[in-house]
Order: sequence, then C-alpha cells, then structure tokens
Amino acid sequence: MTKLFSSLFALLVASATSFASAQAPAQPAPAAGGGPAIEAKVAMCIGCHGIPGYQSSFPEVHRVPMISGQGGKYIAAALTAYKNGERKHPSMRGIGAGLSDQDITQISAWYEAQAKGGAAPSEQPRQPNAQVAALLQKGGCVACHGANFNKPIDPTYPKIAGQHKDYLFVALKAYKADGSVVGRSNGLMGGVVKQFSNAELKAMANYVGSLDGQLITQPQSRFR
Ligand code: HEC
Ligand code: HEC
Repeated sequence: MTKLFSSLFALLVASATSFASAQAPAQPAPAAGGGPAIEAKVAMCIGCHGIPGYQSSFPEVHRVPMISGQGGKYIAAALTAYKNGERKHPSMRGIGAGLSDQDITQISAWYEAQAKGGAAPSEQPRQPNAQVAALLQKGGCVACHGANFNKPIDPTYPKIAGQHKDYLFVALKAYKADGSVVGRSNGLMGGVVKQFSNAELKAMANYVGSLDGQLITQPQSRFR
C-alpha cells in the first residue's frame, strides 16, 4: 500500500517535472530562490512593479515604488503593514490580504536578490543645498536611513536613495495623514514628518530621489 503510494507519487513528480521542462525549453536559470512557485506568486506584482515608469493615478499620479533591490525584511514589513491595515493604500491592502506569511517571506527574499549590479553607490553622496541640508538635519533622517540613505540601521527600515521622487513624496505625506484612505500609521515616521510642511517634504523627496541607490524596476520581459 505504502509502496504503491510512493511509486505513484514518484511518477507524478517525474511527469510534473517533464511537463515543466517541455513547456519551457529555453527557460533561463531562475534567480536566487526562484522556480515556478515563486514566479506564480510574483506574477500579479509584475503588472505594476515590473513595468519601468508605471504610474498609479491614486491618490495622485506617481510612479509605483521600485522594490527590486530593496531590503527583504523591509519588503516583508511593508507587505505585513498592508495586510494588517497599518498601511491603508486600497490596492496594496487587497494584495497583502491575499498573501500568507510564507508567501511574504519568499517574495521578499526574491525581490531583495534583484539589486542593481555594478559598483556599490558612493557613500559620499551629492551634497544637498543648504535648505534641504537643514531639513534633513532637523528630521535626523540619516540616523535611521543610514549612509547615503542606502544603508538603513535596521533591516526592517527602507533604502530610499534613488527611489522615485514622486513616490517618496506620496509616502511621506501618507505618514502625515495616517487616517486618510492611503495613510500609514507608523510610530517612527509619523513623528518625523509632522514637523514639516508638504513643500519641505517635497524638497527632501527630490533630493533623496536624486541619489544613487540600488533599487531598480526589473522589467517584465526578464521573467519570460
Ligand atoms: C495595481 C498595482 C499594484 C500591484 C498589482 C502590486 N502593487 Fe505593490 N504597490 C503599488 C502601489 C501604488 C504602491 C504604493 C502604495 C502606497 O502608497 O502605500 C505599492 C507599494 C508596494 C510596496 C511598498 C514599497 C515601499 O517602498 O514601501 C511593496 C513592498 C509592494 N508594493 C509589493 C508588491 C508585491 C510583492 C506585489 C505582488 C504580490 C504587489 N506589490 C502588487 C501598486 C501595486
Ligand atoms: C527613527 C528612525 C527614522 C527616522 C529619524 C526617519 N525615518 Fe524614514 N523610515 C523609518 C522607518 C522605520 C520607515 C518604514 C516605516 C513603515 O514601515 O512604513 C521609514 C520610511 C520612510 C519612507 C518611506 C519609504 C518607502 O519606500 O515607502 C521615507 C520616504 C522616509 N522614511 C524618509 C525619511 C526622511 C526624509 C526622514 C527625515 C526627515 C526620515 N525618513 C527619518 C525610520 C526613520
């Protein structure tokens, strides 16, 4: 009985394997932690996060964040925040609600592994103008987001260097308006942003977004 069951199982595995290779003869080796299971899980992300320059029009037109090359523990924290409602953006809440904790762990590791190649960004970034320098100083941003805004002091904090400027601005406003339809409640960032006007947040977003970082949009064609 057990023997029969295990040989049936072996047969199933063998046929599933040959089915997969027959379907995709020229498939390149999957990225770290890859394979068909992870590709099925990220298939629904690609339509927004896998298209360079893809914009969301809600609550205002802005590019969707780059997530390839972001820290995995931060991606996991963000997805969990959408899932449990600390981040209220409606479409990402819907996505987060559909992910198990295991999905979140796998997807996050997979995106982290897709950092931009080449030399690490300089730790001596382009200097901000005097106004922006004073704002960054007042907010103590480097103390948490780290050297060049690309080396967060905790893996659950984001890399923000080089992220899309318009997205950074939307994200900063979201911490300020945590009760809004796209709000974010976060004890650390909530306290930080409330000291600034929107014009000041925008000036900081423009500077941080202009820096060299490791975040990229991994185009869809790479998965095919
Ligand atoms: C319909 C378009 C859409 C789809 C599909 C989508 N996202 Fe998003 N995603 C967005 C937008 C827009 C935001 C910004 C939300 C906000 O302002 O909080 C976002 C934010 C995020 C963030 C936060 C990034 C950061 O820097 O804080 C992560 C992580 C993320 N998405 C991962 C995913 C994953 C993983 C999937 C697939 C399972 C996915 N998204 C599917 C549009 C989408
Ligand atoms: C005490 C630590 C701390 C300080 C100080 C701090 N941050 Fe943050 N920041 C965080 C954490 C933690 C998060 C992620 C919060 C979450 O999970 O939504 C974050 C998120 C962000 C985001 C959203 C990134 C994304 O991908 O969605 C931006 C933009 C940002 N911070 C910019 C700044 C700026 C600009 C300053 C200074 C004015 C600053 N931060 C100061 C800890 C900090």
